[in-house]
Amino acid sequence: MGTTNSLPLSFEDYNIRQKKFLKELPEKTLVLIPTNPVSYRSNDTTYPYRASSYMLYLCGWDAPEAIFMAYQESGSWVTSIFVRPRDTKAEIWEGRRVGVEGASSQCPIDEAYSLNDMETVITEKINACSNIYSILGLNDSLDNITQNSNVEILDPRLILDDMRVIKSEGEIKLMQNAASIASKAHIEGMRKSFSGIGEWELQSIIESYFTSKKSGPSYGSIVGGGDNATILHYHSNDVQVNDGELVLVDAGCEVSGYASDITRTWPVNGKFTEAQREIYELVLKAEIAGIEACQAGSPWSSMHHATSKILAKGLVDLGILNCSFEEALGENFDGKYRNFFMHGTGHMLGLDVHDVGGGRQGDKGPERILQPGMVLTVEPGLYFGSWRTDITIPERYSGIGIRIEDDVLITADGPVVLTSSCPKEISEIESLIGKGLSETNA
Ligand code: GLY
Ligand code: MN
Ligand code: MN
Repeated sequence: MGTTNSLPLSFEDYNIRQKKFLKELPEKTLVLIPTNPVSYRSNDTTYPYRASSYMLYLCGWDAPEAIFMAYQESGSWVTSIFVRPRDTKAEIWEGRRVGVEGASSQCPIDEAYSLNDMETVITEKINACSNIYSILGLNDSLDNITQNSNVEILDPRLILDDMRVIKSEGEIKLMQNAASIASKAHIEGMRKSFSGIGEWELQSIIESYFTSKKSGPSYGSIVGGGDNATILHYHSNDVQVNDGELVLVDAGCEVSGYASDITRTWPVNGKFTEAQREIYELVLKAEIAGIEACQAGSPWSSMHHATSKILAKGLVDLGILNCSFEEALGENFDGKYRNFFMHGTGHMLGLDVHDVGGGRQGDKGPERILQPGMVLTVEPGLYFGSWRTDITIPERYSGIGIRIEDDVLITADGPVVLTSSCPKEISEIESLIGKGLSETNA
């Protein structure tokens, strides 16, 4: 939108958010929320630009350097944005800008300013305020101005994060779209799998499907074959996946800033071995129980408790843990099962893949209660890395890593799985593998 595209949500959606946020702030407050800086990849080349999620949330402005501002005048809030002005020379190299005039009409704010006027306008507003709500560390010029004033700087994220946790109907539509695209991408990956496929080839199949839908990855895709599936944040994706090995694919995409996040695990030759099947069925059972625990009114930890109990019992039943169920689970869900399931069961999902307001990023206050409109992931896994030296890995399961991850919307009528079009039953997966291969690579 800061270039040429239109906003993903209605002006009304943004205005409702702005009002709700500003209503929480004390008298004589100045809000200054900068977007993300441009990041350099090497020398003078940059990473593809991604605006800050707070900027996208408040007004949808997706171009670099912008600052969202709000101040009170005669008892009412005025919302503004500082944007890069039109500049033909810069636009020739970097792309079109809508400039101040475009921002005034296309951005859901009351008034727009050029960044060239930032220092003067902000200094004047600071002189009339008693406190500033700003996010530090993103914009040095802005931080210099605010930190050199004698006004207290407070963090707006405590308020905004709570708001971002509940998704509007418009946001849910975008997230459903992201979830459906990623589901189809995984199906494409299954259909084009074969023994010996490169992890990078699978990555390319999945990410090119994202691109074909005008989307892109919402995080670095994880494509881990065999033992690589046991590395939780594996990213090199540069090894061939052999006959008899599983591949774990954790790849989601972004639609208008909103993320999906799916993991599926499948045998590249199209047939689970008995040992792989035992672990897969156990993880799937845990995942289904985790989803079922996603009920409005339940504490955040319900899904982790549900998955953990099933995994701990299954590990004892399979003889992988030679102890009682109680010892496997542990009093505080910290028993021996954690040797093989080391991460949390899920996290909030939204403008950030590990979204604000719960789970992984952790609440400081009391435990969050699940409410309609929240979207989260459920993603139990079991990992038996043959390379582990801290514990004994049973030979039968050595080199197996399995995670199953879905995106779940909490509703008053129970959990809705946004990624339900992505198969996860063994029979469904086996019937897909290799079905999309041409004769040359079959
Ligand atoms: N894709 C990272 C995660 O599942 O949390
Ligand atoms: Mn996840
Ligand atoms: Mn994931």
